[in-house]
Amino acid sequence: MQTMLEEMVEKYREVGHQGKLADYIPELAKQDPLSLGIAIRTVDGEEYSAGDCPLTFTLQSISKVITLILALMDHGEDVVFSRVGMEPTGDPFNAIYKLEMYSPGKPLNPMINAGALVVSSLIGGNTVDQRLQRVLALVRDMADNPKIEINTAVYHSERATGHRNRAMAHFLKEFGMIDDVESTLELYFQQCSIAVNCRDLARMGLCLAQYGVNQSGKQVIPQELARLVKTFMVTCGMYNASGEFAIYAGIPAKSGVSGGILASVPDKMGIGVFGPALDEKGNSIAGSALLKGLSRSYNLSIF
Ligand code: DON
Repeated sequence: MQTMLEEMVEKYREVGHQGKLADYIPELAKQDPLSLGIAIRTVDGEEYSAGDCPLTFTLQSISKVITLILALMDHGEDVVFSRVGMEPTGDPFNAIYKLEMYSPGKPLNPMINAGALVVSSLIGGNTVDQRLQRVLALVRDMADNPKIEINTAVYHSERATGHRNRAMAHFLKEFGMIDDVESTLELYFQQCSIAVNCRDLARMGLCLAQYGVNQSGKQVIPQELARLVKTFMVTCGMYNASGEFAIYAGIPAKSGVSGGILASVPDKMGIGVFGPALDEKGNSIAGSALLKGLSRSYNLSIF
C-alpha cells in the first residue's frame, strides 16, 4: 500500500492546478496550492503516509463533526435536533437564504455554517475558553495527540473577516436559536482554527471507524454518536458535492476550507487528506480526487 499511496499522491498532486485557495480567510491564501498529503491508520494498527503528510493545517469545517458530538453528549438528540435539522441542503456551506424560507431560523443540518453556529452555542462551559478546551480535549482524545492546539494567526484572520458568519449568528439570535452571539462566534472561529496534520485526521477517522474507540483502545465517544456523525458525513460532509462523493468514493468524509478531509471507513480505517486548492464547492480538489481513486483501488465504498 505504501508504494501505491506515494504514486497516487504524485499523480493527483497535479489536480491542484485546477483549484483555488480559500482567500476569503487571508491567512489560508498563504498555503501552497500544490501541497498534497495523505495518512491512513487501519484497525489493525498499521499506519501509512505519503506526500506532504507532516504539514499542519486548520480543521475549519471538520470541527463541525467534533462540536456536534459534544453538543449531543451535553444535551441529547431531542434538544440538539429541535434547533438544527438532519437534511442535506444542496446549497453552498455559507448560504443564508434557506434560514428564512423553511421553518424560519432552524438550519437544515449541523454541517453548514448556520447549523454549526447553533451547535457551537450549545457546547457546555462557563467561558468561551472552557468551552474551547472541551472541544480541544475531544480532538486530542480522538487523535490520541495531547499536543494539538489552535493556530492563532488563522483565528485572528477569520475573526477579522468573518462577516457572513456574524450576519448569520445575528439572524439566528433573532429566531432564538442561539443565546449569545459574541461567545458563539468566538468559539466557532477558534474551533475552526485548531491545527492538525494528516496523521491526526487519520487517527480521528479511525476513532469514528471503530465506533468511538481511539487508537489506544479508549472509548472517547459513545458508540451511537460515532454512528450518527458518520451518517451526517455521508449525507452532508462534502456540502453540495456530498451526493457525487457518495457515488464515486462512498466513504463518510468531512471537508474544511483549509483543504483537509477527515474520512472514516467503518471497521477498516481512518484517512486524513490535505490539499489546500479547492473546487468551486469548497472541497479540496486534489484531496477529493485522491480519495475517490483510493476507494476505487481498494474497494472502500460502504455501499
Ligand atoms: O466559517 C467559515 O467560513 C470557515 N471557518 C469554515 C468553512 C469551511 O471549512 C467550509 N468547508 N469547506
